[in-house]
Amino acid sequence: MKSFYVTTPIYYVNDVPHIGHAYTTIAADVIARYKRLAGYDTFFLTGTDEHGQKVEKAAEQSGETPKGLADRVVERFKDLWRLLDISNDDFIRTTEQRHERAVLAFYERVWQRGDIYLGEYEDWYCIPCESFWTETQLLEGRRCPECGRPTERLKEKSYFFRLSRYQEPLLRHLEENPDFVRPPVRYNEVLSFVRGGLRDLSISRTSFRWGIPLPNDPEHVLYVWFDALINYLTGVGFPEDRYRRYWPADCHIIGKDILRFHAVYWPAFLMSAGLPLPKQVFAHGWWTVEGQKMSKSAGNVVDPYEMAKEYGVDQFRYFLLREVPFGMDGDFSKATIVHRINGELANDFGNLVSRVLTMVRRYLKGRVPAPTSAGGLHKRAEEALQEYGRQMEDMAFQRALAALWEFIGAVNKYLDDTAPWSLAKENKERELKESLYNSLESLRFIAIMAFPFMPSSSECLWRMLGFKGALSDVRIEEAGRWGGMPEGQEVEQPVPLFPRIEA
Ligand code: MSP
Repeated sequence: MKSFYVTTPIYYVNDVPHIGHAYTTIAADVIARYKRLAGYDTFFLTGTDEHGQKVEKAAEQSGETPKGLADRVVERFKDLWRLLDISNDDFIRTTEQRHERAVLAFYERVWQRGDIYLGEYEDWYCIPCESFWTETQLLEGRRCPECGRPTERLKEKSYFFRLSRYQEPLLRHLEENPDFVRPPVRYNEVLSFVRGGLRDLSISRTSFRWGIPLPNDPEHVLYVWFDALINYLTGVGFPEDRYRRYWPADCHIIGKDILRFHAVYWPAFLMSAGLPLPKQVFAHGWWTVEGQKMSKSAGNVVDPYEMAKEYGVDQFRYFLLREVPFGMDGDFSKATIVHRINGELANDFGNLVSRVLTMVRRYLKGRVPAPTSAGGLHKRAEEALQEYGRQMEDMAFQRALAALWEFIGAVNKYLDDTAPWSLAKENKERELKESLYNSLESLRFIAIMAFPFMPSSSECLWRMLGFKGALSDVRIEEAGRWGGMPEGQEVEQPVPLFPRIEA
């Protein structure tokens, strides 16, 4: 069986989850759920990044130990993922023993390779970003080019990773694998960064304590990014041999702000450790809110708990992936989410379901009629599923949903054209059964395609269609063939899947 391994970034515990975290995690969940349907041996990892100065400082401010802070905030993340129906197979915390073990094993490999040396580091440091910057990179007033906050001059003894040694191998890898970084705009960004030259990277700190001590010099703790990236290996069992079942990862999903760490440092670390590189790093865009940059100071941070409560979990999931092509920036606005819910979910999708099921209850005593020749929908359904699959394989979620909605439109039109309510009046039983069988069978296809995006509504539709098993156990290979609605199966009285939202 082919395997598929997808990851999200591990989230810092100094902040509570917002729409940005939810977006990355939902996207990873959608692809994981799709790959399971498509028959892959799938592994989906998420977790939290708990070391580093940022967390140490946040803990100081809230009067906790760093571990105490992490223990408290990690529950917020876990809760949210449960609420949002995230189907991760494991949850990694970098303060876990298994992680420290993996980090030490990894460090040892890099050390043996001769890629770590002691030097002295002096530069401008941004504490919130955990990043050093050179004078030329700084914004006016010596502010951090990433977050705009003031930097501090910092000098310390530090261990370095010989990143410079990997410039050529990285360039070669990028040139030979144009899909290593997606979308293309991010690929080009990485390419020019690497072409611009790579300085060795400071990977240890002595100015604070909250991290994994270096085995060769415990005065130093490991730089948080060196520690954090290794989570992707820990999660699949490294250093035990079983990590090979899923490693190399098929896709690291990240936001565009952490591209350099994933597409430059991480592959260089892996090359040094003699481990295979992930197949792809996919960097998605950023959300603004009602046209504004989202920030605590602006007070416009979108809280995913509130969104789920106000609009529904599936509605929120759907919106995030339908609104923007994956990889581009997007804008969150209440008007647009309401518009999509009322139009696409309530009208196009929800009404179709209730129309068909209500008629099957009314005219056919709720029983699925015998399969018939398909009158056009057969081919449409299989083509839609194929197109959907192609787009999903390409991580083009928005296009996959467009293919699904085109099919939903075709089924709505088919119902209007065949008008089963008139057929019933005219006692045209054969035509009536044909129309309703085709519509029911189309709903079965729709449920399957909607599942990765809207798991609980799709499971509900599945039950209303009369199936006893779970939709999550279905495999497209068998279920994706026309004719799967069993004759005589009893469908349920429909409940509204997506209630309209009144403005
Ligand atoms: N801990 C690091 C990742 C280590 S991975 C080895 C980290 N954590 S984070 O919590 O700050 O951010 C996690 C993710 O949230 C990033 O992928 C980032 O892009 C995403 N987002 C934060 N704000 C965002 C938006 N406004 N919009 C979309 N995504 C955003 O970085």
